Formats: sequence, structure tokens, C-alpha cells
Amino acid sequence: MRGGALEDIVSFTPVDGSRQKITVASLREKKNHRDPITCLTAYDYPSARLIDEGEIDIVLVGDSLAMTMLGYENTLSVTVDEMLHHVRAVRRGVKHALLIADMPFGSYHASAEDAVRNATRFMKDGAEVVKVEGGEKRADLIRRIIDAEIPVAGHIGLTPQSVNLMGGYKVQGKSLTDIEQLMRDAVALDRAGVACIYLEGIPREVAAMITAEVSAPTIGIGAGPDCDGQVLVFHDVLNLTFSEPAKFVRRYGDAGGMISQAVRTFKADVEARQYPSDAESYHLPKETKTALESVLERKRAMRR
Ligand code: KIV
Repeated sequence: MRGGALEDIVSFTPVDGSRQKITVASLREKKNHRDPITCLTAYDYPSARLIDEGEIDIVLVGDSLAMTMLGYENTLSVTVDEMLHHVRAVRRGVKHALLIADMPFGSYHASAEDAVRNATRFMKDGAEVVKVEGGEKRADLIRRIIDAEIPVAGHIGLTPQSVNLMGGYKVQGKSLTDIEQLMRDAVALDRAGVACIYLEGIPREVAAMITAEVSAPTIGIGAGPDCDGQVLVFHDVLNLTFSEPAKFVRRYGDAGGMISQAVRTFKADVEARQYPSDAESYHLPKETKTALESVLERKRAMRR
């Protein structure tokens, strides 16, 4: 269902051009106005600040931090406590963007009570929306979390927490049966009332069909240009990973190269006694220096 006259009156862009807080409602307005939604992952205070000051709509504390920040092999190992440590850091850096955080593997699978308890911890630590992976089969759970006043983002297609079930990180939705399931998943999440739906690793055509069908904004990653918005992993964008990027990744900078170069230059400067220079050193106040010189001179004279 697309928006009508009310959304045109209650615009998310303030008349004076100043920045307004992005909310779940403003994501819907963006979809209705066909304004692309931007989202980047952030896992710490400085990246969160830079992203927020870059006027990105959504900051996602993704469980991809398991690999990008903590060096785990996949997302399965990361715990609620580890995620919350990063949520709190990101919260301190974000003023305007909507802060969405991933509920990690195992934190919403055992029971709805457990899921609501864990989701509540995320909200208390500063998340505004929690994200859970899975479609149709998560719809009732998502309703329970929303009933606890906690907005939920869905995530379907290539869902990394299901890597073992999927048999690897494979593009999903390539057969007619799989497309039908993905459509059912998207519609079930939409009816459950999700704030938005992340579409990961699915053919462009399928993402376009889902985007046209659901009222919730879709945010794509490896899902083509027809989604309502796009998300990328911060470390992919900046070449801060140690692996070949996926096909959909576009690198917008080479922070990895810059950091390597800076590390090597620091080492060379220290080894060549080029760092620090006199200008980079602290000095005694003039009077102390004069007094110290006379003490040293007296000591030298006594030794003679
Ligand atoms: O964890 C993550 O970074 C994500 C995005 C890829 C959507 O879930």
C-alpha cells in the first residue's frame, strides 16, 4: 500500500532544511516518495559518527561484526553481550540516523519469551529497531516482539545465520519454487508489521517484484538497484577486509591501503630516528630549563 495525502503534508524534510531524526515512519515516507534509502553498517564510535555526519539514513550494527571486527569465521559465534558492546559504542556516535541492530544467532530461536527479553536488552542499550533473519516462519515471533513495543526489521534471501542449512553463501531465489517462497516470506513479514525488509543475495528481478508487492521499505545487498534502499558493509566499502569482495561490493575508498602505508611509514621513521622531531616533543619552561642547566653545570664543576 502506497502513501497518500497525509504523508505529503507530514514531510520528513523540515522546511528550514535542517536535519531531522530518521524514524521508522520516515523510512515509509521515503518509500512512498520513491526516495532511495541509504544504510551502512557501523560497529564503533568513530565509524558511527562519520556515517551519521555523512547523512546516511540507517546505521546497522550488523552481526557481520563477527567477521569484520572480531575475526570470527562466520556470524554464528557472536553473542548478545558482544553485539551490545558495539551497539552502545555506535549509539554514542549516532544522532540522526535510525539505529538498527542485528539479534545474533541463538538469541531469538529458543522461545518468544527469550527473543523479547533479548530484544529488550538491545533497546535499553540504544537500538531503535532489532533485525532478525528469516521469513514466513518468523512472522509470529516478530508479532510478539512488536507487541512488546519493539520495532523489527526482517532479513530474507541469503541469510548468513542459516549458512549451514543453505550449504554455503549462495544466491537464493533462482528457481520458481524458491521465488514463490521468497514472495511468501516477504508478504508474511510485511503483514507482521516489520519496519523494513533486508533483501540479501537474490536476483534483481525477484527483489524488484518483492519491492513492488510490500508496503515495508526493502533494503538490498546483492539484490540489484530496484530495492527501496541499499546497504553495504562499511569494511567492504573501505577495503578493510582481508578477502576478495563479493560481486555486488563497490569500493568507495582504500582505508586498508592507507592504514598499511601509514603503519610502514611509522616503522621506517622510528627506525631512522625521524620520529618524533623536536617540534613534536614537549619542552621545559624557559626558567626551569635555565635552572636545570645551572644545577648540571654545578655538578660538572664539582666533579672537575
Ligand atoms: O550483518 C550485516 O552486516 C547484515 C547486512 C549485510 C544486511 O545483516
